[in-house]
Amino acid sequence: MKERIQKYIARCGITSRRKAEELVLQGKVKVNGKIINDIITIDTESDVVEVDGKVIKPEENKVYIILNKPTGYITTAKDQFGRKTVLDLIDVKERIFPVGRLDYDTSGLLILTNDGQVANKLMHPSKEIDKVYIAEVEGVPTKEEMERFKRGLKIDDYITAPAKIRLLKQMGKTSVVEIIIHEGRNRQVRKMCSAIGHKVLKLERIKVGKIELGNLKVGEWRHLNDIEVDYLKSL
Ligand code: URA
Repeated sequence: MKERIQKYIARCGITSRRKAEELVLQGKVKVNGKIINDIITIDTESDVVEVDGKVIKPEENKVYIILNKPTGYITTAKDQFGRKTVLDLIDVKERIFPVGRLDYDTSGLLILTNDGQVANKLMHPSKEIDKVYIAEVEGVPTKEEMERFKRGLKIDDYITAPAKIRLLKQMGKTSVVEIIIHEGRNRQVRKMCSAIGHKVLKLERIKVGKIELGNLKVGEWRHLNDIEVDYLKSL
């Protein structure tokens, strides 16, 4: 695309068009390594523009997506076994990535974005962001077992932070529990449930912080709305 230099500099988020013109006239702008002293038109695909010695690029459009991940999909971008990835389900032109991970056999709420800052905040342990899961487990956890869960459990070589667990439904040989954790270790919910003797048969994530899955159907996705995006940025 052909574009006037001052417009391009502004689009890169450096400064306003008017100030960009001043930068050019002050000799602070280079195109393909050469200082330009005039307002010229550049080719945005092939020309390299520097301001104050730094190469500038247009700001990428930031996108924030919520997906109801089906089981049978992995959350990494590439899989050595050629399994389907969550990116196969989403059709946007930006290069997005999943925030955190859900197991191949877990379904539910997954956020994807190209905003690294938001992704880091969401995953940072110090933020202690609650994640809510619904699990169908073998048997029915007793009060004592659920207390152990709430106090923190030893799994692998670490003690989990206190978590929440609540019995929602009993169905003969299995039951449904709601679990809230703010850590995000590998297969943590499954390991915690196994540690109290109740293997997870089915696992779904329904909430991350204030973001809820709502009535999004399995396999469906949508852009987060302004309120949700503002919330993520405020973390
Ligand atoms: N805990 C698990 O065990 N699996 C998930 O996918 C997410 C949390």
